[in-house]
Amino acid sequence: MGTLKKGRSQSGTLGTVKAKIYRYDPSQDSKPHHKEYEVPWKKHLTVLEVINHVYENYDPLAFDYGCRGRYCGRCAVLVNGKPKLACFTPIDAPGTITIKPLRRLPVIRDLVVDKSKMNDNILAARPQVQTDTLLKTSADIPKMDPEEFLFLEENLQWCNECLCCNVICPCLNEKEGTRFSGPAVWIQIALRHLDPKDKMDRVTQAVHEGLMQCNLCGLCEKFCPQKIKLTDYLRTFQQLAAKGHET
Ligand code: SF4
Ligand code: SF4
Ligand code: FES
Repeated sequence: MGTLKKGRSQSGTLGTVKAKIYRYDPSQDSKPHHKEYEVPWKKHLTVLEVINHVYENYDPLAFDYGCRGRYCGRCAVLVNGKPKLACFTPIDAPGTITIKPLRRLPVIRDLVVDKSKMNDNILAARPQVQTDTLLKTSADIPKMDPEEFLFLEENLQWCNECLCCNVICPCLNEKEGTRFSGPAVWIQIALRHLDPKDKMDRVTQAVHEGLMQCNLCGLCEKFCPQKIKLTDYLRTFQQLAAKGHET
């Protein structure tokens, strides 16, 4: 991890990781605080292993994870201020790291956040295929090039709903309280748009969810642990909306 302060222990061993971890138990603490733990460093050490070491050796720290393999999206936290999957973030050298819960989400305890509001937005976007209702009203919405279609679909289907993209999106921060659902929701809408069985007008839906306010800054793509080509998709979808919904 390039942002770590590098160092070796005085004893000449492999050294330690100093992990400054956010702690907050609403049932006991009047406000959040940070606590520092020393964890032995080894090659290929991950942030999740650091958290687990703290849990097993120091404190009953609350955190969430499942697959340990970049699949479930549950272990997302802020590492040195950036959203990352803990199980997929190596610590390349001894040094200091900070680990915090994802920002802009209510903290339940320590590193566990309440994702229900953002997950509700994903569900409200009707990720299920809509076949019998809400037929596409804009028959003249331009169809995508088949190769582009495949490229985007292959990318989008790897989304694990970790919410790293929504957490880093500057527009989502600015437009809190307004209709700007963010890339984690739009990606679900796009997947359905690309499904030939789906009959809903997904372009209009994405516009209603704030798609046209995205400024294509690319941060969501940069921090997507699945390396999904989000800006390609967002640009294409915005172009479809502009062509199919000119007023
Ligand atoms: S698009 Fe990437 S960052 Fe966003 S929720 Fe899906 S996997 Fe996570
Ligand atoms: S490209 Fe759009 S959705 Fe992605 S971070 Fe930037 S403003 Fe947000
Ligand atoms: S534990 Fe499942 S993505 Fe990290």
